[in-house]
Amino acid sequence: MISRRLLVTGAAGFIGANFAHFWIASNPDDRIVILDALTYAGNFTSIASLAKREHVRFVKGDIRDFELVRDLLQTEALNTIVHFAAESHVDRSILGPGEFVATNIVGTQVLLDAARAAWLEKGLPHRFHHISTDEVYGSLGPTDAAFTEVHPYDPRSPYAASKAASDHLVRAYGHTYGLDYSISNCSNNYGPYQFPEKLIPLCIVNILEGRPLPIYGDGLNVRDWLHVEDHCAAVKVIIESSQPGRTWNIGGRSERNNLALVRELCHAVDEAFGRDNMLKNRFPNCPAAQGNSSEELITFVKDRPGHDRRYAIDATRLEQELGFEPRYDLSRGLRETVGWYLANENWWRAVLSGQYKEWVQRQYG
Ligand code: NAD
Ligand code: TYD
Repeated sequence: MISRRLLVTGAAGFIGANFAHFWIASNPDDRIVILDALTYAGNFTSIASLAKREHVRFVKGDIRDFELVRDLLQTEALNTIVHFAAESHVDRSILGPGEFVATNIVGTQVLLDAARAAWLEKGLPHRFHHISTDEVYGSLGPTDAAFTEVHPYDPRSPYAASKAASDHLVRAYGHTYGLDYSISNCSNNYGPYQFPEKLIPLCIVNILEGRPLPIYGDGLNVRDWLHVEDHCAAVKVIIESSQPGRTWNIGGRSERNNLALVRELCHAVDEAFGRDNMLKNRFPNCPAAQGNSSEELITFVKDRPGHDRRYAIDATRLEQELGFEPRYDLSRGLRETVGWYLANENWWRAVLSGQYKEWVQRQYG
């Protein structure tokens, strides 16, 4: 097994930041270079404590900068890319698909070319691990079997289409140029450091501030939720153990419809207020501060165009071949996530910048 020297793209974002923390906790002496453009979704504060470490270097830069990436791979003698950087929010892709094509498709292609120049042309051992999504497989009916790795691609949002294209490019570079790659397609993640535009952190922050919880359509769309730490652990196992050229589905076998999920979040917040009297002073607009149920904030709004009905992941391959099992139960994970947002108010207040407020205005009116 090669000793890992990693380039982690997009590690100021939600999953990448968790991954960098996770990797360093178990491999503190590994060299990690973080490359992130710090778009609205990238927050340096999420990785500031890591960037101070001797073996970690943060570079603010774009994955579409070929020279930058090739030079980083060469001068730092990096042998592993873990590619998280992406535009990741479906609603934004509906309002503006262009950024998704530019970052997710062109950005991945430039990164692949840089890997080719630095590694393949010199015959160096390497691994390119590409982070992808279950959304490339399309939408399931209520009784359909969950997605396996051989499920045909059927992306239905501009985000999903751009991720599908990036998966195809990675495989094409493996087939055509001999790139040593692996790909993981994961279900919906939740946990610390998630930007509050995605359903779970949006709802936690809105509950605390006493703002409406916007549920699209009838609220019965189903997602398969996985704690981000389980995702990170799975990716680490794959990087360390997967044969080249293989694809792995990662999921938590934790399907919930959106309405049930949001209700569970409301209960978790209400319970936290019941345990800690100080929360009433910190968040006076939260219904729980007045002794009411946070569920009163649930508000049905216009559905997302083309809203996929159900995603579910069959992770049998990962379980059977690499022995991976998620550790988090969803209810426990949601309560812990509520606890993290309560304990890290400074983090979410800081990321809710003016640019973010403009987006909320456009999306929710
Ligand atoms: P995120 O939006 O929180 O973070 C994305 C990061 O990429 C940000 O830090 C951003 O600054 C950076 N970035 C964007 N464009 C860049 C560019 N051109 N150059 C360099 N950096 C750039 O996203 P996330 O939720 O952490 O998702 C990470 C990856 O995981 C994505 O590839 C996404 O498709 C995939 N994924 C996400 C989920 C989920 O539930 N969030 C599920 C499955 C797969
Ligand atoms: P999201 O977190 O955007 O992830 P994805 O669309 O990639 O699965 O949304 C999760 C689910 O929650 C999805 O079915 C859309 C729904 N949703 C709402 O009902 N209201 C919201 O404000 C948001 C952001 C999402």
